[in-house]
Amino acid sequence: MEEKESFLKQKIDANSPNKNIVPITTSIESDGKLSIGGCSIEELVKKYDSPLYILDEITLRNSCRAYKKALEKHYPGKSLPIYASKANSSIFMSNLVSSEGLGLDAVSEGELLTALKGGVPNEKIVFHGNNKSDKEIEFAVRNNIKVIVDNDYDLERLEEISNSIDRDLEIMIRFTPGIECHTHEYIRTGSFDSKFGFGIEYLNILFDRISKTKRLKLRGLHAHIGSQIFELDPHKDLGEIMVNVILDAKNFGHDIEKLNVGGGLGIKYTENDDPPSIDEWVKTISTSVVKACKKHNLNLPTLMCEPGRSIVSTAGITIYKIGAFKEIPGIRTYLSVDGGMSDNPRPITYQSDYSACLVGNPFNINTNSKNKYTIAGKHCESGDVLFKEIELANCKTGDLICVFGTGAYNNSMSSNYNRIPRPAAVLVCDGEAEIIQKRESPLDLLKYDVLPDRFIK
Ligand code: LLP
Repeated sequence: MEEKESFLKQKIDANSPNKNIVPITTSIESDGKLSIGGCSIEELVKKYDSPLYILDEITLRNSCRAYKKALEKHYPGKSLPIYASKANSSIFMSNLVSSEGLGLDAVSEGELLTALKGGVPNEKIVFHGNNKSDKEIEFAVRNNIKVIVDNDYDLERLEEISNSIDRDLEIMIRFTPGIECHTHEYIRTGSFDSKFGFGIEYLNILFDRISKTKRLKLRGLHAHIGSQIFELDPHKDLGEIMVNVILDAKNFGHDIEKLNVGGGLGIKYTENDDPPSIDEWVKTISTSVVKACKKHNLNLPTLMCEPGRSIVSTAGITIYKIGAFKEIPGIRTYLSVDGGMSDNPRPITYQSDYSACLVGNPFNINTNSKNKYTIAGKHCESGDVLFKEIELANCKTGDLICVFGTGAYNNSMSSNYNRIPRPAAVLVCDGEAEIIQKRESPLDLLKYDVLPDRFIK
């Protein structure tokens, strides 16, 4: 019996990877088994063990190119897509996005270093954060990385630094535009309860304050309204609001050259999800900025956007090996895997849904019964459940499960809870697999433990 409606049979949109559940290069081999990037998953696990993160290079590159292409098509001014590296930060990811001409957004010294090591040009990096340390701000300034001012504290530090080095510093500011986004609805409010950025109602005071500094030059505005958003209207509104803020800033003598509209475009995790394409998203925001600039007779600013999830999520999959089963008659069957909340904290944190299949039998073929399983992680926490209920063909200990859409906010939010080492990550392309993150070992995890001398007998 073949599963007719399997998500694996859906037509793939190669131009907007966020609209697919699976990586673009997903295929089922002649032996009926799953392969990605021309690599048999079973072979990859034989070589690299499990759990295993896999990234598909073609899907990654297509996502980057989709943003570049759409901006060139829909925005007549200068533009720059910036990868929000919090989604998946590594030397490899920094290198890849930079090779596609994207910039990068970092929120800590760690992410900044990773970007620089990965070869992202300093002038294409922006530095965010609601509590940047003095050391981080100094690091950014020393490396000519543009700081996005989030609060008065940032402003004071930058003012001090610019005076002490006696050099002009170009800054951008982040503000909360009063648009609240949930995945399926949004509202516009007068103000927005957020720890990030300046309230929109405070901006005139801020503009006045910046114009009185000696060395700070306000050149850009930033706003980000949320993540995993499926609606287009919030970004249409955002474009207009931001252009109005350019006008307000002008009244205080500030010449805003850059508008950074944040990220937020959603991806398809399950068949219930239907996000807009990258092209539609970029078109919406571009059209809205162009229209508002025309209306007010303003030169077009450089348009920047900061996608994270929609660049990397669909390119990533995670492979687990099935271990123990526990059947509770009439209630459920738990099937436990060799990873869980340490490599993917999203289900326990946000009740996130994913799609998955058996690597050796992706279409659940040739089984008389389809079974509902609860897929549990291996951590000591009852809530460590990756799937509350999933239909799979009969499966057994040692079978592999592939979870799709795990490229964003899995590896980057992973932990060592229960002293579980982080998985390895491999990149696949044209039948070749290359390691991009080594597997941790339990011994690695002891590296930072210190036993004070007096405890040593
Ligand atoms: N720019 C800023 C300033 C952001 O705060 C974020 C995400 C992005 C860009 C990228 O947004 P994206 O395109 O990825 O939606 N851990 C959560 C997601 C947190 C998003 C935080 N900020 C999750 O796993 O769903």
